[in-house]
Amino acid sequence: MPGIEQSDRAMKLDLERIVFIGRTYDEYISMFDLNIEDLQGKRILDCPSGACSFTAAAVRQGIDVMACDIAYEYAADDLQRKGIQDVAHAMEQMAHAAEQYEWGFFGDIDGLRAHRLQALRDCSVHRREEPHRYVHATLPSLPFEDGEFDVVLSAHFLFMYGDRLDEAFHRNTLVELLRVAKEEVRIFPLIDLAGKRPPQVDIVIEQTKNLGCEVQERTVPYEFMRGGNTMLYIKKK
Ligand SMILES: C[S@@+](CC[C@H](N)C(=O)[O-])C[C@H]1O[C@@H](n2cnc3c(N)ncnc32)[C@H](O)[C@@H]1O
Repeated sequence: MPGIEQSDRAMKLDLERIVFIGRTYDEYISMFDLNIEDLQGKRILDCPSGACSFTAAAVRQGIDVMACDIAYEYAADDLQRKGIQDVAHAMEQMAHAAEQYEWGFFGDIDGLRAHRLQALRDCSVHRREEPHRYVHATLPSLPFEDGEFDVVLSAHFLFMYGDRLDEAFHRNTLVELLRVAKEEVRIFPLIDLAGKRPPQVDIVIEQTKNLGCEVQERTVPYEFMRGGNTMLYIKKK
C-alpha cells in the first residue's frame, strides 16, 4: 500500500511500491448501492480511485466525476504497465485463498481477472482522454475546496488497512472527506484484509456522530470478501 508510511511528502513515491488495481463501474454501483439517475447533475469524487473504471463509465453517462489517488503522480502509461503486473500477481495470490471470497459476481478467477484488466484499461484510456479528472492527492489531505463535491465515494482504503493506517489517519481522513463533501460520504467495506471489522470502524462512527452527521451502516448487494457487504453512509446535516 503506497503512501501509508510516506510522511515526507517531498519524497517521490516509488512506482514499484504502488499496487495499481481497481474495481469496475458495475462493482462501484453495487458496493455503494448507487442509482445512476440519482447522480445526474451532481459532482462526485472517487477517493482514492486507483485503477477503477467508475469515473470513466460515469462520465460517459453525463455524470461529473473526479478521481484522485496518490498513484496519479505517475503517468497513465507507467501505471498501466505496473497494473498489468499487479493484476497477474494478485490473481496468483487469490488462487490460494479462493475460499475467502464469494464468487457469485465474477464466477471464477478468470472472470475476476477480466474485470480487473477491464477496469485498468478503461481507467488508463480515460485518464489519457481527460487528464484533468485524475488528480494526484495524498490523504489525509485533499487539494479540493470545502463542499466541492455533492457525493464522496471511498472504497477499499479506510478500514481495509486497519493494521497499517492508524486511528489518527482514519480520523484525519474522515474529516477531510467530509470537508470536501456537500451532502454525503460513502465508505466501503467495513472489514480489513483479514475479513474482520477493525476497531477504526466504530471509532469513525462515533467521530462522525460527534461531528453532527447522520451515519448509517447499510447492507449493499455486493459481497466479494466474505462479510464485506456493508458500507458507511454518512449524511451531512
Ligand atoms: C486498494 S486500492 C482501492 C482503489 C479503488 N477505490 C477500489 O476500490 O478498487 C487503494 C488505493 O489507495 C491509494 N492510496 C494509498 N495511500 C494513499 C494516500 N495516502 N492518499 C491517496 N491515495 C492513497 C493507492 O494508490 C491505491 O490506488
